[in-house]
Amino acid sequence: MIMAEAPKDHLSTPELTVVLGKRPFRYFETIGSTNDALQLWLQEDSKLASGAVVIADEQSKGRGRLQRGWHTPAGQAIAMSVLLRPAINPQYLQLVTVAAGVAVAEAVSPLVTTAVQLKWPNDVLIKERKVCGILTEALWLGDKLHGVIVGIGINVRVDFHHTELEQIATSLELYAKNSLHRATIIATVLQNLDELMPLLGTPALLKRWRQWLVTLGKPVRIQTAQGVVEGIAINVRDDGAIVVKEAQGALRHILVGDVESV
Ligand code: BTN
Repeated sequence: MIMAEAPKDHLSTPELTVVLGKRPFRYFETIGSTNDALQLWLQEDSKLASGAVVIADEQSKGRGRLQRGWHTPAGQAIAMSVLLRPAINPQYLQLVTVAAGVAVAEAVSPLVTTAVQLKWPNDVLIKERKVCGILTEALWLGDKLHGVIVGIGINVRVDFHHTELEQIATSLELYAKNSLHRATIIATVLQNLDELMPLLGTPALLKRWRQWLVTLGKPVRIQTAQGVVEGIAINVRDDGAIVVKEAQGALRHILVGDVESV
């Protein structure tokens, strides 16, 4: 029997050097968390350039939003953290997160046969299951923004069958038009982010974001640090906050939270 050759999708420093060109990067076969590794790199080099990226094939202590963990098994996913130094009013920091979601949606959508969607603010979904999560962490020196670490985790071929995540997570490869090459996807996401950064705070970014957002017009339950807000998601503000109309008609504006559709 002739076996199909396994597609070559091995991450390595030489491979990444080809696709990333002059961009500063560090690659680890395995690391705790790429967000933490990038923070350490920034501590070593406080002038580290915007766009510098840490990439790992495997994470042993991947971190998700709201103190959750994030699973990055070797050879099956993308784990990357990029340093951004946006020149924006900190009030608009949430827009970095928005731009990252748009960058991933626009990178992976052409690779799959099925619609890609964003759940506010930036969970990337296929068939209502999460294919990518983004953890954005701002670093401050006093009241000055030192940098923003945008951690992006993409499930490329993670098998969630018979796991507790089966109903909520999925992988790109299940819907892929062709075999997937992680280094190329990484490079495309980073190029998209470069292109989107100048659009922070402009209507152009919001327009692109809205094209992917599925949350608007839907009933939602949002976990926030102040408690749960329920209602219909009616709009997003130009700082990225979502506007929810509660049953009694009150409008709630939420900048940070975790949406559940109801
Ligand atoms: C979420 O909870 O949706 C966010 C998940 C973010 C995971 C990525 S993987 C690369 C980077 N390193 C981490 O430890 N977390 C982020």
